[in-house]
Amino acid sequence: MTMTHSGQDPSGRKRVFSGIQPTGDGELHLGNLIGALENWVRMQDEYETYYCVVDLHAMTSPYDPKILDQARLTTAKTLLAIGVDPRRSLFYLQSQVPQHAELAWILGTITSIGQLERMTQFKEKADRSGQNLGLLAYPVLMAADIVLHRANAVPVGDDQTQHLELTRDLVQRFNGRFGDVFPLPDRISPPVGARVMSLQDPTAKMSKSDLDPDSRVNLLDSPDVVRKKLKSAVTDSDRTVRYDWSEKPGIANLLEIFSVCGGRPIPDLVAEFGEAGYGRFKEAVAESVVARLTPIRTRFKSLEDQEVGRIMLKGALDARSRAESTMVAVRRAVGLTGS
Ligand code: AMP
Ligand code: TRP
Repeated sequence: MTMTHSGQDPSGRKRVFSGIQPTGDGELHLGNLIGALENWVRMQDEYETYYCVVDLHAMTSPYDPKILDQARLTTAKTLLAIGVDPRRSLFYLQSQVPQHAELAWILGTITSIGQLERMTQFKEKADRSGQNLGLLAYPVLMAADIVLHRANAVPVGDDQTQHLELTRDLVQRFNGRFGDVFPLPDRISPPVGARVMSLQDPTAKMSKSDLDPDSRVNLLDSPDVVRKKLKSAVTDSDRTVRYDWSEKPGIANLLEIFSVCGGRPIPDLVAEFGEAGYGRFKEAVAESVVARLTPIRTRFKSLEDQEVGRIMLKGALDARSRAESTMVAVRRAVGLTGS
């Protein structure tokens, strides 16, 4: 496939890139699904899509090398189970395409350290797990991921806004200094559920790194576990189900989850459950989540590790050759001609 300068394929479709980390054991949660992955799957119908398990990013926080391999496979398998379709999307492991790291190095030479030190995620993670150069440079590698395939749009949750802004800054700086090589990418977030909150503390986002396992629903949780976690979700002492983030964040969070998993608008849910009591409301939320996750679990179980490994390798080979065409333009622009 030939690439045009604007980052569109010959049929004129815009190009989409996104990535997800195989953190811990590689399991994903409901925040990932609602904030980002639903869009990944949907966008395959309309865009030219590139999706990546960003294993190099996962190495910037403490991890166990004995489980990273399996974690990458679990994440990849979950994405396939959700509906990432390797016949329609270029789907691969970041570390198997060395141009990501090469481009990150080049972009690093035009990145200010002060800007990296101000990133909220860097400050939070550095407090928790100590600083390292990889953690500081994390957003530069993310920018490289996005521009390596000259993406126009990036489906992510709200927590990635700052990283996307940095990416846009770097694109403008690069193009200004070296000539117009990269398109300016836009962040794509869902209207509802761009920031799914913890079930145990609705003022904190649902996160893989939360020590309390009841704070999140994992995509592979069994129906009973899902029901138990939603039953114990923190709400408030009132009884009315209303969509009000400032007064009732726990209920607002559950309404968003229900709306996305059940495919129903929030006002409909409020009309039906407004006075039903929290018990009945939470049960209904849980059933919508169970119904959304059951086909994902079934599909996950049916996929063989070996088959997934083959899919990822094929994706990586394809991604390497496509990435190379961008890198030829990049090397030429920065004065490394001859490649
Ligand atoms: P990560 O697990 O940090 O690699 O995140 C993968 C994707 O899920 C990114 O697009 C995040 O923005 C998104 N995401 C992670 N946590 C949440 C959350 N609590 N709510 C909405 N989106 C999220
Ligand atoms: N930083 C993203 C996150 O934690 C993961 C990521 C890495 C990413 N590279 C990316 C997301 C490129 C979108 C595009 O969620």
